[in-house]
Amino acid sequence: MAKESSSLHYINYLSLDKILDAQHPLSGNGKSAAHEEMLFIIIHQTYELWFKQILHELESAVDLFKEKKIDEDNVGVIVGRMDRVNKIMATLIGQLDILETMTSLDFLEFRNYLSPASGFQSHQFRKIEVLLGLKIDTRHQFGECPYHAQFEGVKKDEILSLEQNDSLFSLVEKWLERIPFLSMKDFDFISKYEAAINNMLEEEVSIIESADLTNEDKNIRLRMTNENRKYYKRVLDEDIHNKAIEEGETKLSYKATMSALLINLYRDQPILHLPYKFLRSLVELDHKISSWRFRHMQMVEKMLGQKIGTGGSSGQGYLKQTVDKHKLFTDLANISTLMISRKYLPNLPVNIASTLGFNYSK
Ligand code: HEM
Repeated sequence: MAKESSSLHYINYLSLDKILDAQHPLSGNGKSAAHEEMLFIIIHQTYELWFKQILHELESAVDLFKEKKIDEDNVGVIVGRMDRVNKIMATLIGQLDILETMTSLDFLEFRNYLSPASGFQSHQFRKIEVLLGLKIDTRHQFGECPYHAQFEGVKKDEILSLEQNDSLFSLVEKWLERIPFLSMKDFDFISKYEAAINNMLEEEVSIIESADLTNEDKNIRLRMTNENRKYYKRVLDEDIHNKAIEEGETKLSYKATMSALLINLYRDQPILHLPYKFLRSLVELDHKISSWRFRHMQMVEKMLGQKIGTGGSSGQGYLKQTVDKHKLFTDLANISTLMISRKYLPNLPVNIASTLGFNYSK
């Protein structure tokens, strides 16, 4: 039998002595302690451990994306790691159920001891946000204080330097822009796609015109089709797209958006399976983080109502603002607006379909 002192032991390998000795309720010990404080500490520590694992996965994805050539194997590795991050996020959302077994009255037994500590000061949470691409000027800020004012010394420097570095968002954008599929020999994707949309809308018009409907109903439907036509035209116009970026309505560059559209439309092509799965995993992550923000905000509402947070924010009101505003990959989710059914999808010329090599990774 392995002895704790002489050879590698479960307890040593996992540094359990340190981890299990790291819960120090401020309300005291024994009978005078607030019973629920132990849960409060352990759940936060558990979150921080999972944040560490998320950072481990995201940092590796960022490193792989920084390489000049991203081959298919690496896209596969990244997809696997993003999938893991999404599973962890699902667990983090679920864990709030455990915390909600504590009532607002229970919380008040020890809340006074916490001030001014707050989840606001979670360095790892901020690193995750910044590494994904959340920039200081797009954050919902309360009062005059930037979010990094909560940190000092090395911790602050680390956050500030992360803000300056490439994020997953910026690396993915560059990668999409590099994909040379948009204008391949004999196949100009954007003009073919535009023709396919016109085809689809013309067919819609003729179905409406020959349908057994009143003139009023027909006019309503024709107006809708016309609105859709304007929408597609707007999206395909690079100048309009760039103006939308300037006005903060969209983030992803025109070229990257068109590549993401191509990947989504031709996801059935074997070479595009993995890029498609990867883009989908980013949308999934955005939704999961946003769901966590929403669930955390609801829990705060139950726990504190409209009380001010220990970190000094307006509490529930502040958290509510971050749910949508801090999303990063909305442009990728919105690609679905541009989907057309397979029957209208322009056929890729046989030579292109068969020679789609892995040169998109160059
Ligand atoms: C009783 C339970 C909890 C309450 C009442 C609560 C309350 C709050 C409040 C009011 C804020 C806004 C900042 C402030 O003024 O303090 C906040 C932010 C935050 N909390 Fe919690 N929290 C709880 C549990 C948790 C847990 C379990 C985590 C897990 C790590 C967590 C992580 C965070 C993070 C990361 C922020 C910053 C969010 C942002 O700025 O977008 N909180 N919390």
